[in-house]
Amino acid sequence: MYFIMDFVTIQDRLFCNDSELCTQEKIRTIVYDVPQRVSLVAALRIRDVIQQKQREGKACVLGLATGSTPCKVYAILCEMHVRGELSFRNVHTFNLDEYYPMQKTSQQSYYQFMHTHLFSQVDIPQENIHIPDGECRFEDVQEYCQHYDQQIALLGGIDLQLLGIGKTGHIGFNEPGSQADSTTRMIYLDKITKADAASDFYNVHHVPRKAITMGVGSILGAKRILILAFGEGKAGIVRTSIEGPVTSQVPASYLQGHPDCTFFLDTASCASLTRFSCPWTIKG
Ligand code: GLP
Repeated sequence: MYFIMDFVTIQDRLFCNDSELCTQEKIRTIVYDVPQRVSLVAALRIRDVIQQKQREGKACVLGLATGSTPCKVYAILCEMHVRGELSFRNVHTFNLDEYYPMQKTSQQSYYQFMHTHLFSQVDIPQENIHIPDGECRFEDVQEYCQHYDQQIALLGGIDLQLLGIGKTGHIGFNEPGSQADSTTRMIYLDKITKADAASDFYNVHHVPRKAITMGVGSILGAKRILILAFGEGKAGIVRTSIEGPVTSQVPASYLQGHPDCTFFLDTASCASLTRFSCPWTIKG
């Protein structure tokens, strides 16, 4: 339950590169000790945006991610709702992606994931929920994707985008090669992504070859971005995304160009950043 660490203070941060000289790191990066604490900080930021919009009498548009990384964030948001501290009545959501083809009723669908982890437990109006439709007819996908981006634009854009990162450096399902101005579209999944998803589908050969994903451009259009990564398995791609050049080969590196993007890490996923792996090479 989140109340045990309800008060995350600035001292709880193990590291933040906000005001320090570190030319290697090109995205604001904040490290906490464990994923639970990172998740609480992310949930508090989401709560604050929702409530700020409520005070202004406005809708709040959230971009949401799937995967294991944001699970705890959703659990905390649900708990806030159950405790009567947070309503989702003014919230509109746009999920990043969905496998294609994919039945909504399938246990591997992101539709199921989102309803299980968040939507079935909070008071969000059903009509405010948007998840790319894995049941869309193939010939309609292009038009459907354009409409998805238009709906985001009609609501004034995404106020806060929550992201995880795939081992290929993908955000959403924007695999290496995705362009910075790409919009919502159908994409083929990378081999590494399919291997990572294999356990969910019991066999890599059952993993869909395609997905519908919001584009890099659609994501970069968000006013604020929180990207989370946990565990040593993400340490390499986290470093490449934060310290490496901006390249289509590492789509998360595009986040370097966003004016309000923060990487939230635990101690395992930050381990390869130069600051931690080779601190003696950094000018103090
Ligand atoms: C999938 C999702 C991504 C997510 C990634 C990482 O590929 N489409 O949006 O960021 O998985 O998953 P995990 O959080 O389980 O590491």
